[in-house]
Amino acid sequence: MSTATAEALESLEIQGVSKTFITHKSPVPALSATDLSVRPREFVSLLGPSGCGKSTLLRIIAGLTKATDGQVSINGREVTGPGPDRGMVFQAYTLFPWRSVLRNITFGLEQQRRRKPDARKVADEYIDLVGLRGFENSYPSALSGGMKQRVALARALAADPEVLLLDEPFGALDMQTRESMQDLLRKVWERTRTTVIMVTHDIDEAVLLSDRVVVMTGRPGVIQEIIPIELPVERTGQTRLSEEFMRYRRKATLALHGQPVDEA
Ligand SMILES: Nc1ncnc2c1ncn2[C@@H]1O[C@H](COP(=O)(O)OP(=O)(O)O)[C@@H](O)[C@H]1O
Ligand SMILES: [Mg+2]
Repeated sequence: MSTATAEALESLEIQGVSKTFITHKSPVPALSATDLSVRPREFVSLLGPSGCGKSTLLRIIAGLTKATDGQVSINGREVTGPGPDRGMVFQAYTLFPWRSVLRNITFGLEQQRRRKPDARKVADEYIDLVGLRGFENSYPSALSGGMKQRVALARALAADPEVLLLDEPFGALDMQTRESMQDLLRKVWERTRTTVIMVTHDIDEAVLLSDRVVVMTGRPGVIQEIIPIELPVERTGQTRLSEEFMRYRRKATLALHGQPVDEA
């Protein structure tokens, strides 16, 4: 957006990243050696059943979990911990309950020591973008689940990350709210073109939103298939009803079951 300040994403490379959790009982292999290149400005989904290591991979990219082997690098720099170049939104609502909507959204900007009027201006843009005008002074406890996730999205984007990491961001929402949030996220992405990596177990969500769907299976997780989604850039509720959408849906379903998708 016009207020962008961070350097743009040039490359995000996941190279030979694996993870085995060491627990007091026995080691838990969560992720097999994984390679993936994420392209600047693309929307990538990590799609797979529960327990296949999606969150583990996302948390390694976020720098919240340490890989057992391999490395993640962003613009050629190895990830060694969390940083402002990566914004996160989780399924669980993680707003600061003691801060208003506005001050939740300016949080990252305050961390970056942006001047108050400046931060306000940036926050205002995102408040409009996610449709929260009129709720600037509300507190999280007064908001619905969908609205809380709008704030979380605005907060993450306002800090102008190079890559936005989403872990089942709509997982706790009812079906209808979930669909409208998917449409909102797509619209926001079309405007900002921030690189997105989103974890989901919802096939429709992955197909609707992504440029590429990375299908993961197994325990420990492996990349089963990468499906490029060549639906029109502008996607709406109608897209869900198109033949093309159904075809991609079928491909992703086959991949999830470990079947060949070529002729699908
Ligand atoms: N902190 C942890 N300690 C031990 N095992 C873990 C930990 N986090 C995840 N796991 C295990 O790693 C595997 C992958 O988990 P996760 O990445 O959360 O899967 P997903 O997000 O695909 O549902 C699971 O078997 C899970 O139980
Ligand atoms: Mg998960």
